[in-house]
Amino acid sequence: MKMDVLLGLQWGDEGKGKIVDFLAPQYDVVARFQGGPNAGHTLEFDGIKHVLHQIPSGVFRENIQNIIGNGVVLDPVILKKEIDGLKKFQLALDKNLFVSKKATIIIPTHKLLDAAYEKSKGDKKIGSTLKGIGPTYQDKIGRLALRVGDILSADFREKYDNLVSKHKSILDYYQYDLSELLELEKVFFDCVEFLKSLNLIDSEYTINEAIGKEKSILAEGAQGSLLDIDFGSYPYVTSSSTMTAGACTGLGVAPSKIGEVFGIFKAYCTRVGSGPFPTELFDGDGERMRKEGNEFGSTTGRPRRCGWIDLPALKYSIMINGVTQLYMMKADVLNIFEKIKICTHYELPDGSTLNHLAFEITDLEVKPIYKEVDGWHCSLAGVEKYDQFPQALKDYVALLEEALNVPIKIVSVGPDRKQTILK
Ligand code: GDP
Ligand code: IMO
Ligand code: MG
Repeated sequence: MKMDVLLGLQWGDEGKGKIVDFLAPQYDVVARFQGGPNAGHTLEFDGIKHVLHQIPSGVFRENIQNIIGNGVVLDPVILKKEIDGLKKFQLALDKNLFVSKKATIIIPTHKLLDAAYEKSKGDKKIGSTLKGIGPTYQDKIGRLALRVGDILSADFREKYDNLVSKHKSILDYYQYDLSELLELEKVFFDCVEFLKSLNLIDSEYTINEAIGKEKSILAEGAQGSLLDIDFGSYPYVTSSSTMTAGACTGLGVAPSKIGEVFGIFKAYCTRVGSGPFPTELFDGDGERMRKEGNEFGSTTGRPRRCGWIDLPALKYSIMINGVTQLYMMKADVLNIFEKIKICTHYELPDGSTLNHLAFEITDLEVKPIYKEVDGWHCSLAGVEKYDQFPQALKDYVALLEEALNVPIKIVSVGPDRKQTILK
């Protein structure tokens, strides 16, 4: 069977964790293919909220192989903490969690470098989660990085020391205080020992064998298409390929083996960290959206910037990912609005209009041009079927489907697993 891919079409936090958990019983394997602990994927069921950072979101369902793929940058310290935190749920992680030996390891100095680089950028900072993502991918591309399989070799410590001495010379340049490094290293090496006890595999074989045996696989994206290293609002992006193509390289699956591509988006937009956001609201509406949607980062707790839905951006993400089905999240957050705005195109400073994400858009002040529609302006509590939706919500869905030319198959109306409505 082909591998399906699920990814965020905006700036992350679209609700990927919730939907992966919802869909997981239909799959034999769930695999993360990029990113690392910068991700915060929230799952809610039975009155409990879980936030996963590196562990795939299929982990609460039985008999599923959860794989951390080669494209991921893995922090052993955060992984151990996550696994310890899950102990009370008795999930048999020894049998259903697997880590690629080709995944790249985040070491303590990567996090210090992240902080040093951000500090040096002043008001041009990316707004990184400071988990060491950028510096680790830099080392991967620079052919310097350590990979999970390296921890099993006798000279791991030597390889580690070599890399750290390179990092130290950069940190010296930035006059970065290294006094906490010894303590960080102690914890790191304890967690590396723990990592050795997990199922370390050549995951590209596991996944391709599963495809060959007609098993079903779901690739779980992290971040979102507008944070992609190539196609996002560079340089205000993350350092990985967050798109469908990233699932191929991040798991070792050929493009011809990709099946459905599920694109997830919020009924509005959010962004955490710096960078352009054409439909951002700075008024009371933005504040109300943040409050109603509880828009605070799952990883850092930072308030998320909020704004209306952006059709040019969504069309772009659908195009570069080959999205076959759309899932609209957090419809309930718009319950409070009498009128809802939909950005159909942008106006440039010279008065011309643009309906796509041109290169220049990162540097230009673009003005969003809106179509305004009636909101449903009522609670969606208790709604269990699409037929029960208020007409104005059905109209909103129909308008988006028409504009985006891809069917919306799921509408999410609350954080709980059960608040997921199939269309
Ligand atoms: P992810 O990174 O894409 O997995 O998304 P996050 O977990 O970072 O952020 C999504 C947030 O919205 C989480 O707090 C979810 O519990 C919550 N959420 C998901 N779907 C819905 C929904 O339909 N309605 C509401 N109100 N909250 C939702
Ligand atoms: P999930 O998977 C939202 C943002 C950061 C910053 C930029 C670069 O939960 O959707 P990085 O730490 O990668 O160097 O930060 O990307 N960012 C996210 N925003 N959701 C995420 O993940 C994010 N991961 C990174 O805020 O602007
Ligand atoms: Mg998140």
